[in-house]
Amino acid sequence: MIQIVYISSALSPWSTEQLLELLQQCMKNNSARGVTGMLLCGEDTFLQALEGDDLVIDELVEKIARDPRHAKVQFLHRRPIERRQYADWSMGFKRISERELTGIKGLKDFGAKDFNFDYLVRNEGIVDVLMDHYRAPHWDPLVRELDAKDKVIEHLKQALLQARGSVEIATLVLESIADAGKAGTLSERHMRLCESALADLRGGT
Ligand SMILES: Cc1cc2nc3c(=O)[nH]c(=O)nc-3n(C[C@H](O)[C@H](O)[C@H](O)COP(=O)(O)O)c2cc1C
Repeated sequence: MIQIVYISSALSPWSTEQLLELLQQCMKNNSARGVTGMLLCGEDTFLQALEGDDLVIDELVEKIARDPRHAKVQFLHRRPIERRQYADWSMGFKRISERELTGIKGLKDFGAKDFNFDYLVRNEGIVDVLMDHYRAPHWDPLVRELDAKDKVIEHLKQALLQARGSVEIATLVLESIADAGKAGTLSERHMRLCESALADLRGGT
């Protein structure tokens, strides 16, 4: 099993509808292929970790690198792993904002504007802090202690992680509809995308 982390740059800022479409694609494909990971997205920058079987991941990143929806794909590492770090997510997702970054331990003088290709490529320490922060909720030490003893906590943790993923998708659905409302149109395609995202949410994925 391997893990690959890369940074890439979108040609222009992505709409919420585009993000929603990408995430739907990631979740569907990745669960079918045993791929897990995390996608952090700034104004026009992606930072993604992908993990799974060597061949599957190598093939996938080749596809991703050729994807015309972004450019300048820069791989930061490709390393063998024994355990998944993002086991709970077919593709965890977080949109980076100023508010989101507040209070992340280990980040000093780093703002949402710094979440860009040039800065991140030169500051791998920051990439590590971000990926580590979003890997899992930062449980209170007491809960960690209990966690070791009590399986119930494990179930709770899983439920919370899933809920966190669902909230991100639900937020994107709402934001994309609000954007479409402002623009005065909700296309057929967008409607179908929302319906499929809602069906996933209702199914609890
Ligand atoms: C930033 C970014 C991240 C992506 N991540 C994934 C991913 O995790 N899984 C995936 O299947 N496709 C991902 N894609 C899409 C792939 O580039 C490609 O379009 C997709 O895998 C093709 O899927 P298909 O074989 O079902 O047509 C990503 C694309 C971009 C731009």
